[in-house]
Amino acid sequence: MYMKENQENKMDKIVSLCKRRGFVFQGSEIYGGLKGTWDLGPLGVALNNNIKREWWKLFVDAREDMYGLDAAILMNAKVWEASGHTGAGFTDPITECTKCNHRFRADHLEDVTNCPDCGGLLGAIRNFNLMFETQVGAEGDTKSYLRPETAQGIFVNFKNVVDSMSPKMPFGIAQIGKAFRNEIAPREFLFRVREFEQMEIEYFVRESDWKAEFEKWRLELWDWFDHLGLARADMRELEVPENDLAHYSKRTIDFEYNYPGKGFDELAGFAYRTDHDLKSHMTASGTSLEYIEPDGTRFVPHVLEPSFGVGRALTAVLCAAYTEDEMNGEVRTYLKLPTHLAPYRVAVSPLLKNKPELVAKAREVFLTLKKEFGNVAWDDNGNVGKRYRRQDEIGTPYCIVIDFDTLGEEKPTAKDTVTVRHRDTGEQIRVNIAELRNYLI
Ligand code: GAP
Repeated sequence: MYMKENQENKMDKIVSLCKRRGFVFQGSEIYGGLKGTWDLGPLGVALNNNIKREWWKLFVDAREDMYGLDAAILMNAKVWEASGHTGAGFTDPITECTKCNHRFRADHLEDVTNCPDCGGLLGAIRNFNLMFETQVGAEGDTKSYLRPETAQGIFVNFKNVVDSMSPKMPFGIAQIGKAFRNEIAPREFLFRVREFEQMEIEYFVRESDWKAEFEKWRLELWDWFDHLGLARADMRELEVPENDLAHYSKRTIDFEYNYPGKGFDELAGFAYRTDHDLKSHMTASGTSLEYIEPDGTRFVPHVLEPSFGVGRALTAVLCAAYTEDEMNGEVRTYLKLPTHLAPYRVAVSPLLKNKPELVAKAREVFLTLKKEFGNVAWDDNGNVGKRYRRQDEIGTPYCIVIDFDTLGEEKPTAKDTVTVRHRDTGEQIRVNIAELRNYLI
């Protein structure tokens, strides 16, 4: 019980840190918010971009068999008819309280007769389609949808990529972009929202190879979660039972993270989508989506799909990084973020901000490092101790302080050296300015 409370408390502390330090704000906050939407602040967008950049580096740039794509969010409505998203396959069961009119996902309720909020009678369960519908054009006579997954943009561009890039089997197409779902009950911070980002790969294989390729991918996905700094003990695979599979899938593994106060829940999905999508689009559009081998053999490829929500990755990364310890007799909070994800790699400051010679030297160091790394912070607020605490809280791995020794005023041997302070240990060492770049890489 104590553990659970502590963990729930941890999530509250993370949400509060996110707001206080400019990571995540409630969407449309000054108008009372809009349920299921969140805005990323300056540090949140930096962390989010770092996650996406690392994902792209690992799954696209580092591979020879992967092609990038950025498809439009608005697509011809026929796409969603062919994929099955307009039908019963992309619905959640909804029930409404006859007394307070609150709506619930019936599959998330233990008791589907009485309202968990007011005790009133719950109405009949009906299927609710999760797609946001919209009208395109001045006459508003063309129906469209905000895409509920980026995947379909990949399937409808399959032929374009094959024709323009001549990929060899097996190969993948990767995309990062927004997706929208009109979730009945958005909840738990970024976990279930109505507008979110996905990082998706459709990996095209011969049908006979899907099992072997599935196993290879399964292992590679673990490398990604390691790279995010998520402890293996806080991750697990869940084989999705047959009756829970999405309408297109023959096998799915969910990768689950142990979110504080919530327990294990989905972080990313990995599905075998068979040839469902390409075949459906081929039939509906009348365009051949077959792959032609050099020897002339034609076939519709089967698909493996690793699918990641960026917001869930960001949440898991923050949960894994959030740490409290004791330093110099005080409780301190810090984010133990991997350097490749931290919003700032390093913060630079003068020991005293009212000494122009210290400020000038610190600015020089700051500008050189900023040119090199980009994500370098200038911090001269408060005293050095306070700066360290602030940078700890936002996960900056290193703090550099320029002091009188740097100027060679007190210890000529220390001239042109600075203090580099390490976030996790608080250890401070002297490093020559000329060696800083290599030291911080
Ligand atoms: N193309 C396959 C697909 O979209 P999914 O399991 O529905 O599969 C993939 O979604 C990932 O997208 C999930 O594992 C999760 O990380 C993220 N995701 C889905 N719905 C979400 C929501 N409402 N809010 C935040 N993330 C969501």
